[in-house]
Amino acid sequence: MLQQTKHKPTTAVLLGIGGYVPQTIITNQDLEYRLDTSDEWIQSRTGIRMRRQVSDGESTSDLAIQAGRRALDSAGNPDIDLVILATTTPDHPCPATAPYVASKLGLGDVPAYDLAAVCSGFIFALAQANAAVLSGQSHNVLVIGADAFSSIINPEDRNTAVIFGDGAGAVVIGPSYDQQSDGLSAFELRSDGSQKDLIMVAAGGAQIPLRDSTSDSDRFFAMKGKEVFSKAVNAMSSSSRTALEKSKWKAKDVDWLVAHQANQRILNCVSTALNIPSEKAVVHLDRVGNTSAASIPLALADHASSFKEGDRILLTAFGGGATWGAATLTWPNISVAEL
Ligand code: COA
Repeated sequence: MLQQTKHKPTTAVLLGIGGYVPQTIITNQDLEYRLDTSDEWIQSRTGIRMRRQVSDGESTSDLAIQAGRRALDSAGNPDIDLVILATTTPDHPCPATAPYVASKLGLGDVPAYDLAAVCSGFIFALAQANAAVLSGQSHNVLVIGADAFSSIINPEDRNTAVIFGDGAGAVVIGPSYDQQSDGLSAFELRSDGSQKDLIMVAAGGAQIPLRDSTSDSDRFFAMKGKEVFSKAVNAMSSSSRTALEKSKWKAKDVDWLVAHQANQRILNCVSTALNIPSEKAVVHLDRVGNTSAASIPLALADHASSFKEGDRILLTAFGGGATWGAATLTWPNISVAEL
């Protein structure tokens, strides 16, 4: 039974976290064999050394279930009454993947839905979970970011194949009634649909149904890398500044910057723009690449042993849509399993 109380929560807090990456490792050297690229180019332009990839038969739901299970264990297996899965690579165009994930996790008939905001998906989902908890509509929410970009990337396209990796991360968000407690304190979310061409899989939707798709490139993920780079830096920096203001935090109060793991040079530019020392900027992309909606919860899970209770963490992301945003989070006292 869910705990009932007549009081509204003061804050939504992180109760647990878990991450999961598939077993298959694709190194830069592996890519050198089949693409006109080099380890030196990939490391110097992106900071990525390797990424993980699902094996045959493994899908986004498998990653999401593993990460969700670990987050639930980390939270002490509380009753869950809402599941939000942020993903750009659902198992099928229809139906959503979240209900299947919820059922495989044994969560019964809880409401469960997918959220599509590409690499910003986790922050958007976190904002919805926060609002659901604060309003009293939901008590404990499982938020998962999971993507298997290897299913939409053209393995022959060196512009994208070197950047993306597969993985999943999940958190459990629940209420706190303690006036002193800090958890999720501020969100800033934005979108600009006039930039939808920056990041796109053109076919497979209602505009170019698969039956009408004439070119292979329509069916694969495409990205205008240079434009994405500068827009991502500006958008993550500006939304972070607003989230900091809303939280009444100064840049010097931030203990950790956990930005969407897109590219090491993007991370460097964002931390410089925000005046946050680079040693406070969490880096996980060197080992997993850009895992889209999974990147922030995976980076949090990977670095959890470095965080102390009460640490102030700034989250920020940019993704297709375009979508972007930032959130502020005070780290709780939780136990986290290793990735
Ligand atoms: N290996 C070797 N050379 C490559 C390459 C690869 N994998 N990809 C591109 N190149 C080449 C280009 O063809 C170009 O060659 P040219 O000068 O002869 O034309 C050269 O390298 C420079 O390419 P460019 O696109 O200018 O590189 P860049 O410095 O902009 O870096 C990205 C490319 C994709 C790494 C960079 O733009 C980026 O990270 N963008 C953001 C991507 C991202 O994070 N997306 C997700 C956001 S949610």
